[in-house]
Amino acid sequence: MNKVRFGIVGFGNMGSTHAKNLHSGKIIDAELTAVCDIDAEKRKKASELANVAVFEDYRELIRSGIIDAVIIATPHYLHPPIAIEAFGAGLNVLTEKPAGVRVSDVIQMNNAAKKSGRVFGIMWNQRTNPLFQKARELIRNGTLGTPKRLVWIITNWYRTQSYYNSASWRATWAGEGGGVLLNQAPHNLDLWQWIFGMPDEIYATCDVGKWHDIEVEDDAIINGYYKNGATATFITSTGEYPGTNRLEISGSRGKLVIEKKKLNLYLLEGDEREFCYNDPNAFPEYNLQEQVFEQTEKEPAHNGIIQNFTNAVLYGEELLAPGYDGINEIALSNAAYLSSWTGKRVSVKELDTKLFDSLLEEKIKNSKPRNRLFPDAGGQPCRWHTNW
Ligand SMILES: NC(=O)c1ccc[n+]([C@@H]2O[C@H](COP(=O)([O-])OP(=O)(O)OC[C@H]3O[C@@H](n4cnc5c(N)ncnc54)[C@H](O)[C@@H]3O)[C@@H](O)[C@H]2O)c1
Repeated sequence: MNKVRFGIVGFGNMGSTHAKNLHSGKIIDAELTAVCDIDAEKRKKASELANVAVFEDYRELIRSGIIDAVIIATPHYLHPPIAIEAFGAGLNVLTEKPAGVRVSDVIQMNNAAKKSGRVFGIMWNQRTNPLFQKARELIRNGTLGTPKRLVWIITNWYRTQSYYNSASWRATWAGEGGGVLLNQAPHNLDLWQWIFGMPDEIYATCDVGKWHDIEVEDDAIINGYYKNGATATFITSTGEYPGTNRLEISGSRGKLVIEKKKLNLYLLEGDEREFCYNDPNAFPEYNLQEQVFEQTEKEPAHNGIIQNFTNAVLYGEELLAPGYDGINEIALSNAAYLSSWTGKRVSVKELDTKLFDSLLEEKIKNSKPRNRLFPDAGGQPCRWHTNW
C-alpha cells in the first residue's frame, strides 16, 4: 500500500470538512474514495464534491473493499458500533471525538480494536497545539515538581440557540447523550488527563438548560481529586460571552499559565515543600525564573491528526492521539454526570458503569428530538482550532 484510501461515515459539518481536506490533497499519501451518509441531500453534496463512491449504509461502505481506513464523523452514539464493524472487517479506524457516550460501549470498541490489531486513532486535534504539548512535557519531565493543582476555565465554547436547533440529535439525551461535556469540552477534558493525569474521584455539578432551551447541560463544574492530594477544577459553559480559556497548573517547583496563545512559566529556585519546612522567614518572597512560550502559528489540528494517522498506517509512525485514549475522557464525563445525578463524589477508576447506563437510559426514555429549525447553523470551521 502506498496510499491510504479513506471512507468517511457522516458527511455533516465535520465529515464534509475532512472530505474536502482529503480531496484537495492536504493529506500526503491519502485519498478520499468513499462517503456514507443516511441523508440523501448529504450524499448528493458528497457526489458534487468529488468522484467518490457513495453509500447509504455504513456496513456496505465497510464491506466495499475500496477503503483501507474509515473516518467516523456521525453523532457520538454511533462511534463505537461503526468502529467495531470496521475493525471486524480489518479496517483502520479514525474516530471523531468523543469516543462514544458510555464507557461501557467504549470498552467494547477498544476490545475490538485490540483484537483486529489495526491502527486506531481519535480526533483529539488540540493535542497538536504546541502550548499543550509544552505543558505536558513540563509536567512529565518534572520541571514543575510534584503536581498540586490544575484549574481550567474553559468557557469560550459559546453557542446560540440556533446552533442547538441545527440538527435534531443535538443537545438531547437520546441523540447526543449529553451537552457541553459531550460535545464541546471533550477536547479540554482529554487535555486535562493527557497533561495532568486521571483523577481518582470526581464531584461535579452539571446544570441542565441553564442558558438555552435544551434538555442537557450547558454549564458544568467538575472537581477532581488525586490520591497524592492534587486537585483539579474544571469550569465550562456554552452560555458565556466573552468566554475564557485559561489553564493554570501549579506544582511544587512553580506554575504555568496558558492563555491567549501564550504559556507563562514561573519557576522557583528549589522545591516549595522544602522551603515550607526549612525557611525561618514566615512571609518569604522567592525569586522566580520566568519564561514565555508563544504560539506563533495555527496548530496543524485536524489535518495534523489525519496525516499522523495516515503515516501510522503506512509507515508505523507513533500516534499522537491513539484511539484507546478516548476512554479516559469519556470516563471523566461519565463520572461527572454520575456525580451530578447522584449528588455524590464518585470513583473514576472504578466507575459504576451499570448505574451510569441505567440512569442515562431513564433520561433517554424521556428525551425528545429537537425540531430542526436552522439546518446549516452548525458549521463553524474557524472554531475548530484551539479557541483563545
Ligand atoms: N474534532 C472536532 O473538532 C469536531 C468538531 C465538530 C464535530 N465533531 C464531532 O463530529 C461528529 C459529527 O458532528 P457534526 O457537527 O459534523 O454533526 P452533523 O450533524 O453536522 O453531521 C453528522 C452526519 O452524520 C450523518 N449520520 C447520522 N447517522 C448516520 C448513520 N447511521 N450512517 C451514516 N451517516 C449518519 C448525518 O446525516 C449527518 O450528515 C460528532 O461526534 C462531533 O462531536 C468534532
